[in-house]
Amino acid sequence: MINRQIEELAHGVYDKLVDLRRHFHRHPELSYHEFNTTQRIVEELEPLGYEVHRPLETGCIAVLKGGVEADRVLALRADIDALPMEEEGDYKADFLSQVPGVAHCCGHDLHTANLLGVAHILSSLQEQIPGTVVLIFQPGEEKPPGGARLLMETGLLQRLGVQAIYGLHSYPYGQVGEVSLIKGPMMARPDEFVLKVIGKGGHAAIPQKAIDPVVISAQIITVIQSIVSRSVNPLESAVVTIGKIAGGTVCNVIPDSVIMLGTIRSFSEELSERISRQIEQTATGIANAAGASIAYELIKGYPAVVNTPWAVDALEQTAAGLPGVRAVPLAEPIMAGEDFAFYQQEFPGSYMYLGTGSPQAGSDTWNWHHPCYNTDERAMITGMCLMAALVFNPKSTQSKS
Ligand code: NI
Repeated sequence: MINRQIEELAHGVYDKLVDLRRHFHRHPELSYHEFNTTQRIVEELEPLGYEVHRPLETGCIAVLKGGVEADRVLALRADIDALPMEEEGDYKADFLSQVPGVAHCCGHDLHTANLLGVAHILSSLQEQIPGTVVLIFQPGEEKPPGGARLLMETGLLQRLGVQAIYGLHSYPYGQVGEVSLIKGPMMARPDEFVLKVIGKGGHAAIPQKAIDPVVISAQIITVIQSIVSRSVNPLESAVVTIGKIAGGTVCNVIPDSVIMLGTIRSFSEELSERISRQIEQTATGIANAAGASIAYELIKGYPAVVNTPWAVDALEQTAAGLPGVRAVPLAEPIMAGEDFAFYQQEFPGSYMYLGTGSPQAGSDTWNWHHPCYNTDERAMITGMCLMAALVFNPKSTQSKS
């Protein structure tokens, strides 16, 4: 019965959400600078009866106490930041970014509007809500150290007694109406490294007087390709990629040094650290053999997104009660990173992919962070209904006591 009410309310608020999503899309703001976005969110929340907290400079946390006494505190999260890039695309021509060099090409505009929709629905149903609902409008997902980490460090969510947390991301390979779920590891930890090979510059035609860091770098890149294939258990997933290499200026000068930037993707901190040590040892050995040296730095990224099995069960069960929502299995984890993982280090819960791909919106072709990335707004009906219905499913939290 409650689900019928949720669906009606979702359809009722939908047009407003499309306007809001397009407003955020036209006025994107970079990580930790989401000032106007935050203001717009707060303006929307306060008249709905939410208690709004601002523990960081941007973003906010909205708390709604339900009318039904229950030992239950459920958190729902949206990320609100945009990317430093130019966007393109015919399908969103009416609401392209008006800010040069900043664009919502990861769908966070839709995540934000969607959670505001949930806020509207829950406000209408406040008297029937068991326990407390915490809505997290999180800044800075795209940029380390991660808004989720900063929010966790404020201790506010812990003080509010959050028992479980759920979040969603737009997903171009899922259809509208679908939500893709997976238990356990879902997204990888993206660690980065900087590797500098320090040789000795000289004339390109007199290599015997120089120590050529270009040749040494080529050897290092080739050899570290076998770290994953030879040193990692084949049943574990890991990737090592050098994404950037820079050195030298012209064809006839051997440069002093070469710098490489790389990423290590895995599902465990221990494995990532082991791979990192091996990269450093391999590079040191190759460089030393040639008379060169290295400088190496590992920059730790977000932890892996690992979903609590019972929370995924709760999502599946909730979806089954909503005629318009289909839960489908996500075939395999994705090696991209996501700072939702910081919440999961303390709270059980689950991340999910909301199908936003369709030919009508041209949103089934381009992946996250592509200039043409778009989302089918109708997916908000699915996202809102699922998140709101989750609040009424007793299995979506487990009491700590
Ligand atoms: Ni994203």
